[in-house]
Amino acid sequence: MTDRPADRPVTDRSEPNRVLIFDTTLRDGEQSPGATMSHAEKLEIAQMLDEMGVDIIEAGFPIASEGDFAAVSEIARQAKNAVICGLARAQFPDIDRCWEAVRHARQPRIHTFIGTSPLHRAIPNLDMDQMADRIHQTVSHARNLCDNVQWSPMDATRTERDYLCRVVEIAIKAGATTINIPDTVGYTAPRESAELIRMLLERVPGADDIIFATHCHNDLGMATANSLAAVEAGARQIECTINGLGERAGNTALEEVVMALKVRHDIMPFTTGVDSRKIMGISRRVAQVSGFPVQFNKAIVGKNAFAHESGIHQDGMLKNAETFEIMRPADVGLSDTSLVMGKHSGRAALRAKLSDLGYELGDNQLKDVFVRFKELADRKKEVYDDDLVALMQDSAANTGSDFLQVKKLRVVCGGGEPAMATLTMVVGDAERTETRQGDGPVDAAFNAVDAMFDHQGVLQLYQVHAVTEGTDAQATVSVRMEEAGRIATGQSADTDTILASVKAYVGALNRLKVRREKTAPDSDTKSVSMYSH
Ligand code: KIV
Ligand code: ZN
Repeated sequence: MTDRPADRPVTDRSEPNRVLIFDTTLRDGEQSPGATMSHAEKLEIAQMLDEMGVDIIEAGFPIASEGDFAAVSEIARQAKNAVICGLARAQFPDIDRCWEAVRHARQPRIHTFIGTSPLHRAIPNLDMDQMADRIHQTVSHARNLCDNVQWSPMDATRTERDYLCRVVEIAIKAGATTINIPDTVGYTAPRESAELIRMLLERVPGADDIIFATHCHNDLGMATANSLAAVEAGARQIECTINGLGERAGNTALEEVVMALKVRHDIMPFTTGVDSRKIMGISRRVAQVSGFPVQFNKAIVGKNAFAHESGIHQDGMLKNAETFEIMRPADVGLSDTSLVMGKHSGRAALRAKLSDLGYELGDNQLKDVFVRFKELADRKKEVYDDDLVALMQDSAANTGSDFLQVKKLRVVCGGGEPAMATLTMVVGDAERTETRQGDGPVDAAFNAVDAMFDHQGVLQLYQVHAVTEGTDAQATVSVRMEEAGRIATGQSADTDTILASVKAYVGALNRLKVRREKTAPDSDTKSVSMYSH
């Protein structure tokens, strides 16, 4: 890592191969349906991003809601190293609100955007000249407030090339210091992504004085390749999210571009300021707080990304780790140790193990987790790393302050009769018990939840995975619910699959309730559309 301020003067070419990492987990990532994070969770993720060496953190969309504004302002105040950026549509009130939030940062940035492709121009009903004029006015306005202004022509990859050059030139002249080229719908391919940046560098006057950024979505699975191709062509900022979180198929995954540049430095001689050993810790935390589990075979951070290793160890065949490894697990923050925990393990051993796994716990938190660990160790002879990760995820997803809390579950099934579940649950501040039948034990248990909590949510996804092997393995359950266009997810882990299912279901309902309240017509928060310009 270097000491240089992340956002160097753009004319400074002393480090021509340094690529700025712009993380938008808290803005584009959080925009993903169901990925809402609480204020405290956003602050925590921002701090982790800052500590891992991300150059720019896009902390939110301040005009979107009071909650977004508060989070961006607080993150701006707390950040020690990173530039703090807020998003604003091409409208003066958006830009003013954004500035109000980011101005507290040591290094603030305003990011303003407008859709420039024919389809997007039709939304505000502006012709090419009117839009060009709007861009000039809004970027100039942002630059009058802040020295550091990023401008994005949304849907750039489907914008007519001549028009793209024209509006990029206008934005540069109006004072933009970074020009971001979004592939909003994940439509481009690596060669085209590179050609676009090359063309802009060649054709646009003033292009050498600013930084070009690449912002890719993964609809065709090419976001990482497209981002790297753009860098090879001259872009020097990659916009990305942890775990590739984001709308639809997500954004470019931070861990993928950072590790690709590190591992293949021989053919892509670019550096970032990110400490890759912090990747696993933040990946797990983002999965927890967003409710979006990481797919098992996800590059870099998936549970199986380094799984070949243990098999080869067991077979005693590994002579040289490099035979199968292009990077070491430790490079991304995975512990090498295979120390298995059990019911005799003490608090200090648990703390050390969790720290290895990327969880730094305070004394009180450790006390709670230790109780849960002991309960698990009583039921399960050997507690593996994955068990502990599942336990931590469960603790974070289902807390004692939730509106609905599962207390006790009894299920009778398998005797040729309909399954029957008796559930005791805290609902607000009252404890209630209901018994319901169902088509199998999970259905019966979910029916008992529904008998105590009124909702219109529809179950969209119910998924069960075994964390480790053996019949005493914990199951992690993921549930996704939809209610009036709002989506929420819940997760839980337990050696009892039915209990984990109910806790995940209840977790999703708790999140749905929060989302419902946040966007209720009479609530003091408001939401705005990204597309209304
Ligand atoms: O994908 C996109 O176009 C965006 C812009 C707001 C930069 O996220
Ligand atoms: Zn985006």
